[in-house]
Amino acid sequence: MHAPRTAQDWTTTTLPRLGVPVQRLGLAPNYGLVADDMPWAADQGFNYWVWSPLGRFGATTPGLRRVLQKDRERHVVAVLGGGYWPWMVRWSVEKARKELGIDQVDILQLGWLGVTSAFGPAIADTLAELRQSGAIRATGTSIHDRPRAGKLAAEGALDMFMLRYNAAHPGAEREVFPHLAAHDPIVVAYTGTSWRQLLKAPRAPLPPWPGRDVGAAVPPMTAALCYRFQLQSPHVHVALTGPGSRAQLQENLRALRDGPLSPEEESWVRAYGLAVAGKAPIGPS
Ligand SMILES: NC(=O)c1ccc[n+]([C@@H]2O[C@H](COP(=O)([O-])OP(=O)(O)OC[C@H]3O[C@@H](n4cnc5c(N)ncnc54)[C@H](OP(=O)(O)O)[C@@H]3O)[C@@H](O)[C@H]2O)c1
Repeated sequence: MHAPRTAQDWTTTTLPRLGVPVQRLGLAPNYGLVADDMPWAADQGFNYWVWSPLGRFGATTPGLRRVLQKDRERHVVAVLGGGYWPWMVRWSVEKARKELGIDQVDILQLGWLGVTSAFGPAIADTLAELRQSGAIRATGTSIHDRPRAGKLAAEGALDMFMLRYNAAHPGAEREVFPHLAAHDPIVVAYTGTSWRQLLKAPRAPLPPWPGRDVGAAVPPMTAALCYRFQLQSPHVHVALTGPGSRAQLQENLRALRDGPLSPEEESWVRAYGLAVAGKAPIGPS
C-alpha cells in the first residue's frame, strides 16, 4: 500500500517507467485552449501533455511544438492514438512525431481500449516493434472497463493506464488500484469533473463544507477541488485538467497550490460525489 499524499509529494512526482519528474496536474488542451496557451502553461510548470491526431488538438499543436523544441527532455507527451489495426497505431505515432517535431513519443496510448482500440497479438507486436525502433518509449491505454484494466495491470501488459476516476466514480479504488503493485505502471486520472457533472451542485441539500456553520451557503465543487480529489490518491501520478480557456487553466492550478484535502474535506467531497452520481442520499450531517 502506498503512503498517503503529503504536501511534500503533492505537486510533482517522478513517473515510473520513464523516470521523468512531472507536475502532477497534466494538460489536456483540446477543450478550447489556443497555441499561445501552451508556452504559458509550460512556464507555469506543466510538462505532462496529452496530444492526439484525432479530435480538437490542432489549435494548440504549434504551441506545444514550440514548447518541445525548447526543452524536449523536461516534457512527457502522451499520444492518444487510434488502434484497431496496426497501421492505425503506426499512423498515430508518425503523425505525432511529424506534427510535434519530435523523434520519440513518450507514451503511446491505445485510445479508449475496447471501444476505439483493440489489444490483440497484432497490436501488441506493433507496439513492441515501435518500442524497439525507438519511436515510442512506453505503452498505455485509456480505459473505462475497470475489471479489464485491473487484469491488464496485474499482468504488466502496459506501462500506463489513463483511468476514469473522480468523486462520483471512485470505483478504480476497488477494481484497479489493488492490482497496480506488482508492475507499478504510470497512472493518469481523467474525467476529474465527471463530464462537468461535479461542477453543478445537486439540488438536494448539502452538508456544510468542513468548518462552516450548518445552513451556510454551500458552493458547488470547483474544478480545482475535483482534481484535488484525484491527486489525493497515492496511486495517481497525474490528474488531467481540460480547461476551456486560459482563465480556467489559471484557476485550476489552485489544485496544486491548495495541497492535500484534510480527512474532513475528503469525506465531504466523497459524499458530494456520491450524491451527484445518485448513489447516496445527501443532507446536512
Ligand atoms: N471524458 C471522457 O470520457 C474522455 C474520453 C476519452 C478521452 N478523453 C480525453 O481526456 C482528456 C481530459 O478530459 P476530461 O474529461 O478528463 O477533462 P476534465 O478536466 O474533467 O473536464 C473538462 C471540462 O471541464 C470544464 N472545466 C475545466 N476547468 C473548469 C473551470 N475552472 N471552470 C469551469 N469549468 C471547467 C470545461 O468545461 P467548459 O468547456 O464548459 O468550459 C471542460 O470542458 C481530454 O483530452 C479528453 O479529450 C476524455
